[in-house]
Amino acid sequence: MPNRSWEVGFHLRSPRNWLNDPNGLCQFEGTYYFFYQYDHDWPTVDQKAWGLFSSPDLLHWTYQGVPLQPSIAEDRHGVFSGSAFVERGAGDDGRDQLRLYYTGNVVAPVAGHSPKDFDYVYAGREQNTITCVAERDPETGALAMGARQVLLRNTDYPQDCSCHVRDPKVWEQDGKRRMLLGARHMDTHGMCLLYESDDGLDWHFSHTIYSDYAFGFVWECPNIVQLDGRDYLAISPQGLPRLQDRWFNRWTPGYFELPEGQRLLDTEVIDERTFVQWDFGHDFYAPQTFVDDAGRTILVGWMGTFDDHYSSVPDGLDWWHCMTVPRVLTRRSDGRLLQNPVPELEALRGTATCFDNGGARIGGRLADIVLPHLEGEGSLTLDDSFQVFYEGGRLGLRYLDERGSAGRQDRSIPLDELRDLRVLVDGSAVEVYANGGAEVFASRWFCPEKDDLTLACSFSAAGSAYPMQNTMVEMYETAAAKAPDLELPGWNETVPH
Ligand code: FRU
Repeated sequence: MPNRSWEVGFHLRSPRNWLNDPNGLCQFEGTYYFFYQYDHDWPTVDQKAWGLFSSPDLLHWTYQGVPLQPSIAEDRHGVFSGSAFVERGAGDDGRDQLRLYYTGNVVAPVAGHSPKDFDYVYAGREQNTITCVAERDPETGALAMGARQVLLRNTDYPQDCSCHVRDPKVWEQDGKRRMLLGARHMDTHGMCLLYESDDGLDWHFSHTIYSDYAFGFVWECPNIVQLDGRDYLAISPQGLPRLQDRWFNRWTPGYFELPEGQRLLDTEVIDERTFVQWDFGHDFYAPQTFVDDAGRTILVGWMGTFDDHYSSVPDGLDWWHCMTVPRVLTRRSDGRLLQNPVPELEALRGTATCFDNGGARIGGRLADIVLPHLEGEGSLTLDDSFQVFYEGGRLGLRYLDERGSAGRQDRSIPLDELRDLRVLVDGSAVEVYANGGAEVFASRWFCPEKDDLTLACSFSAAGSAYPMQNTMVEMYETAAAKAPDLELPGWNETVPH
């Protein structure tokens, strides 16, 4: 039996089965839509589709099934990651139209060859850029997918690209649609491709964006962030070395701030030394950003990882991974991007338990713990099992109980001063925000099975711990019953990753 204390109550997870990247994040006609990479039979089949949640307020969510599934030859081995773009006034009666852009993955496409004939990096794979319109049902908010249109194939990408070209991110700038694609160069280094279009359908290659020195072997899931007049390129690179103070995970996403006055549209070469890691936790990859109707830039990450040595489903959970809570991005004067949970989440707080250097017990397993004024060293320990510490000039996470880590190792980063701390505990999902959101850790903690959460604080400072309302439990129960067992053409083929 899975441990019921691991259940999440304000994080999004797939009702059943596998979740990876957030996709198509947007606010359309007032409703938030969060798609995600869904796999009904990981790792046996590995054929991705897009699952969907919608919400009026980022707190209460409706599961909308798996509306974007492989359906044409060009996406038959997976609807891979991509983004949403709202075309203003392009719909019926001049209404806005929601357009999705994604990568159609196809492996071993050459008839008559055995799957073993290919390496799927330099041959044997198609990654097609595809679009479709998502029609919104005004009553239920559900989205129905229109006809797929293939926009770009591997033969359209520059010749120095390997077969790995994917994860379109579309936005508008200077009256044109712009598209970033993540890619792997034939020489095995990561890069992005930039395209432009007048109508979102007919795309023209502009240029390649790459780093001075090779920085990982592929760049996935590119995003552009534009804040306070500055441009940032965010990427999920694979292949960075593990170092003592950073890049601890197998794959490490982050961003580059471009120099003042320099636009991404005009940038070809990036100084890879300016790379800043988004999150230092064990479970964070492939984040996506979007701008909501209030003009906020919001980031959501995949709170999970693959190919790493630790587990995300110990003891028979029937769901893998979750998303981080939505994080608002703001720019600090030195260019660092601060990440903080959307303020909406504070509406889920119950009555605070205040604690000083000492202990506290919170009813339930969901908590928002805030230590607003810190000085000096100390730690915050959860259930004698998991610890956030600041010691010897390092901020880090420590697993005190081997079962709770499921193979994760303690880790820490150098930090001159710890001024404040906020820790979201949601069953087995923990997010730590320090110094106003400048340092962030998202990690899973497979906590002991207990009704309540016990805190022990050794910082000499006052804190407040709020129990959090569970807004997901009913949705997950009904959604799990509805989650489809997908039967698709080619679905049962075993395909190489
Ligand atoms: C990132 C990624 C993307 C790809 C997707 C497939 O985690 O590898 O590049 O589109 O996952 O699920």
